Amino acid sequence: MPNAGLFDGRLLVFDELPSTNQWLLDHAAECRHGDAVRAVAQTAGRGRFGRQWLAPPDRALALSVLLRPEDPARLPAAWVGALAAVGIRNMLERHGLAGRLQWPNDVFVAGRKIAGILAEQDSASPSLVLGLGINVNLTDRDFAHRPLRQPATSMALEAHHDFDVPTVAADLLAALEAAIRAFDAEGPAWVLRQWSAYDALAKGQTIDVQTPDGPASGAYRGMDEDGRLVLAAADGEPRRYWSGDVSLRQAQYP
Ligand code: BTN
Repeated sequence: MPNAGLFDGRLLVFDELPSTNQWLLDHAAECRHGDAVRAVAQTAGRGRFGRQWLAPPDRALALSVLLRPEDPARLPAAWVGALAAVGIRNMLERHGLAGRLQWPNDVFVAGRKIAGILAEQDSASPSLVLGLGINVNLTDRDFAHRPLRQPATSMALEAHHDFDVPTVAADLLAALEAAIRAFDAEGPAWVLRQWSAYDALAKGQTIDVQTPDGPASGAYRGMDEDGRLVLAAADGEPRRYWSGDVSLRQAQYP
């Protein structure tokens, strides 16, 4: 395989895998920083919060990247998901699509989710597996068969033409590499600038968040310098959350 992963890592392509994230978690010891794995068909893709992720052959991009930087402080795990979201957004822009970012790491086009990110770590390993799922050529029919928590779309539905999945994969790896380099040079300030330029949420908008400690809601204040979500609760005091699942009030979906 030619080197076409991240930072001269390898890109391995399988016809079918249960989960590209699981494959990399299982093979982390044999892989190096920047190695990437793509499955043409992913049969048991994992989403956040134990959800399933749909990735039928030729219609979705299922890609995972192994991250094991020499100096972990230069690529903190807490920022990897947001960096990946920015990379995806920038890749979409190259293809003429206007993506927006929603904390912690969702990417939306026209108010519908187009991509998902799941970073996973084996407690025994210093490696982080970054899983990226892009709805490339999925159709309304694909989505109709699945119970979806949020409205979803694909690059093809938005652009009205199909895309070549390997090209999208290569463009995504390049955009991710550029985002990691920018973070290395400028730190969180770079991500925060990108986030506020392309935020899917409006400051002051009321949102609901499922956090590990239970549900929360409040007025959206943005992302802080540690990558946490900031909400103003009913008492006006800011509350900060490291992780959670944002949902909009139904009427806020366009
Ligand atoms: C989400 O729920 O938004 C995250 C979805 C992440 C899906 C990707 S597809 C490639 C990688 N392999 C997996 O099993 N999951 C991630």
